[in-house]
Amino acid sequence: MDKIIINGGNPLEGSVEISGAKNAVLPIMAAALMGNGISIITRVPDLRDTRTMIRLMEIIGAKVSFKEGTLTVDGSSVNNPEAPYDLVKTMRASFYVLGPLIARFGEVKVSLPGGCAWGPRPVDYHLKGLEELGAKVTLDSGYILAESKKLQGKTIRFEYPSVGATGNIAMAAVTANGTTIIENAAREPEIEQLCIFLNKMGADISGVGTDKLIIKGVSQLEPADIEVIPDRVEAGTFLMAGAALGEVTINKIVPTHLRTVLIKLEETGAKVRTNQNSITITRSDKIIPVDMTTAVFPGFPTDLQAQWVALMMLAEGSSVITDTVYHDRFSHVPELNRLGANIHVENNVAIIRGVKKLVGAPVMSTDIRASASLINGGLMAHGRTEVSRIYHIDRGYERIEEKFRSLGADIMRKTES
Ligand code: UD1
Repeated sequence: MDKIIINGGNPLEGSVEISGAKNAVLPIMAAALMGNGISIITRVPDLRDTRTMIRLMEIIGAKVSFKEGTLTVDGSSVNNPEAPYDLVKTMRASFYVLGPLIARFGEVKVSLPGGCAWGPRPVDYHLKGLEELGAKVTLDSGYILAESKKLQGKTIRFEYPSVGATGNIAMAAVTANGTTIIENAAREPEIEQLCIFLNKMGADISGVGTDKLIIKGVSQLEPADIEVIPDRVEAGTFLMAGAALGEVTINKIVPTHLRTVLIKLEETGAKVRTNQNSITITRSDKIIPVDMTTAVFPGFPTDLQAQWVALMMLAEGSSVITDTVYHDRFSHVPELNRLGANIHVENNVAIIRGVKKLVGAPVMSTDIRASASLINGGLMAHGRTEVSRIYHIDRGYERIEEKFRSLGADIMRKTES
């Protein structure tokens, strides 16, 4: 198993280009299954999760090719509306094929995702939403079976603006009879882009980017082309490393996707300069402790909570970080404490007492974003940090060690059999 070895303490300086967003490309790939022909998706990050989705789409019958960031999906041969356990268990986002496949085939069989490192993560909104559109949903031997000859549009109100449920129900509803209204819909940029892609395919969705999506059913979708938006989580990870360690410019990004994160970064004392599609962050001599609470977009993303905890480890004072989206998402804390941090978790709150110095240690990744916080932590610590189980990072970050190396970090991948 590969490890990442970091000799920490080097200042960071320079610029990196941010990759396409993992959480945008996965639902777009699922949507392409609805087009009876070839869709071309560009700026696709080469990630483990992208590769898993390609495998799943091939099992479903699509012809997929992936070369130099361009993904070609031929949906005309799609013939098997099924997502097997082996793939869903390695990537929950496989569940995104539920909506498109019921829309196209009138039936679908998808393995029910299990728990995850951050707690139970149910899919009840997805299933209730499908039932409200008239599908019969049953559970059989760990698989969700959903069927409906033709879904019927309806007004659906989510208790919570779930990203995945909004995407799945929107995809299911685009070819339903009549109009579906999703109230309290997720407004994340990745969902906004999914709706833009669906409209390019011929769907009729209005209210795109708001919490109320109005979806008028159309008879069928055509293939379409799209360039994936930049990954705001990867961007935030590099900005937080820069805020601790030097001066970093991130390029090819959309600054408005990071508005709340930038406000918080400025509160730490870092200097932030924003241009049309780049941001430069410069560290200050002292990191001011800043409390933070995660929220749905446009709030501070839970996917950057672990990296914020890492930044606060060296703040001059105490900070309180609350995750309201995922209450158990703190598996990075015991690992960060191995570097000499002073972090204490109570329920969904982490209390961080800043320390003067961190010292490298062996640490273990537990999920994608936790791994990113360990890498940032290792870069901030003196001496050698070994991050193990880095297959988690490879699920969501493209060439992360190369990008950090280009900024002056002493970081390398060690392959072990
Ligand atoms: C997506 C992102 C993930 C991010 C999360 C929140 C992808 C592939 N993943 O995950 O990186 O951390 O959004 O921004 O885009 N919930 C229910 N029932 C449901 C669905 C969700 O109770 O049926 C709850 C969840 O347990 C959680 C909250 O709603 O507490 C938000 O989850 P959701 O927005 O659905 O996250 P995902 O789409 O799974």
